[in-house]
Amino acid sequence: MVPMRRLFLLFVVLPFIAVVVSGADNLTPRYYRRTCPKVEQIVSEVVTSKQITSPTTAAGALRLFFHDCFVGGCDASMLITSNAFNQAERDAEINLSLPGDAFDAVVRAKTQLELACPGVVSCSDVLALATRDLVSMLGGPFYSVALGRKDSLASHLRSVEGNLPRPNMTVSQILSIFSSKGFTAQEAVALTGAHTVGFSHCKEYASRIYGYNGGSQSSYDPSLNPRYAQALQKACANYRRDSTIATFNDVMTPGKFDNMYFQNLARGLGLLASDQALLSDPRTSPFVRLYAANQTAFFHDFAAAMQKLSILGVKSRRNGEVRRRCDQFNTISA
Ligand code: HEM
Repeated sequence: MVPMRRLFLLFVVLPFIAVVVSGADNLTPRYYRRTCPKVEQIVSEVVTSKQITSPTTAAGALRLFFHDCFVGGCDASMLITSNAFNQAERDAEINLSLPGDAFDAVVRAKTQLELACPGVVSCSDVLALATRDLVSMLGGPFYSVALGRKDSLASHLRSVEGNLPRPNMTVSQILSIFSSKGFTAQEAVALTGAHTVGFSHCKEYASRIYGYNGGSQSSYDPSLNPRYAQALQKACANYRRDSTIATFNDVMTPGKFDNMYFQNLARGLGLLASDQALLSDPRTSPFVRLYAANQTAFFHDFAAAMQKLSILGVKSRRNGEVRRRCDQFNTISA
């Protein structure tokens, strides 16, 4: 009888416990109340001053956080730098446009935290808090962030492909990426409202504004507002020679986190083809219209979706660590 009971414990009960206690179950906003009680204050002070001196930080951090979470979970794998043995996520083509200021904000906050409470706060928690603070600094909603994430033990360039949406994808392809991470069409639309801030480089929408559908060089996507399309053609005229040229995602209120992104779509002022497509697809258009008409609903749903995003694929002590430096694993490995 006794050996049977042991076998039952070993093969049935223990694996079940290991499955239900995922990293996210251990998260709580009070995680550091004893070990680093000032964590929120320190992160907030550092990133606020960073945003004041470098206003591209906030939108960059929001995109960085999204890319980190969608590739293998919110585990700061996007912060690792490549070395001779390993090409990290950060060096995937889609991540090369993430601005250095966003990474720098996290590194600065982590440096201050290492002085106040060494070896305690993970880089993934710093990124989650920094993103929340920066979104609210731009006028967006403030939401509580559960803490206790551990940092990844791996970061591979090859893991990125297929996990992040691209502007030339169909709505079906985009929704299928979101759905594979557990997000509904409504949550995907709410999260994409992040395009109410920040920039896009010309190459991301060049096919909409030059030689559209094989037409003449000046022909543009007819779903674009004509004056907007012409202004974009002008702004991007040198984009092949100067790949740094970028324009605001939200041409009306570029630095403000509001619901203007959704209002823009109805006026042909959506910058990326994927943005404009959200208005015409029946699975997403009801939510675009809802958020265009009601900023409170957008803020409520965006905050809830960000909270859901921030616990995606979270690592625990079992499969993660608290990095000493956000750009390197504690032990050098391939
Ligand atoms: C619908 C799927 C999405 C697509 C196809 C997409 C694609 C893009 C592209 C191509 C850019 C321009 C990057 C550049 O040229 O520097 C961009 C910028 C941005 N994206 Fe998305 N994105 C999507 C969803 C999201 C989501 C869910 C978030 C956040 C929750 C987000 C946050 C941002 C931000 C804040 C920027 C501006 C970054 C900056 O100014 O540095 N995006 N996105």
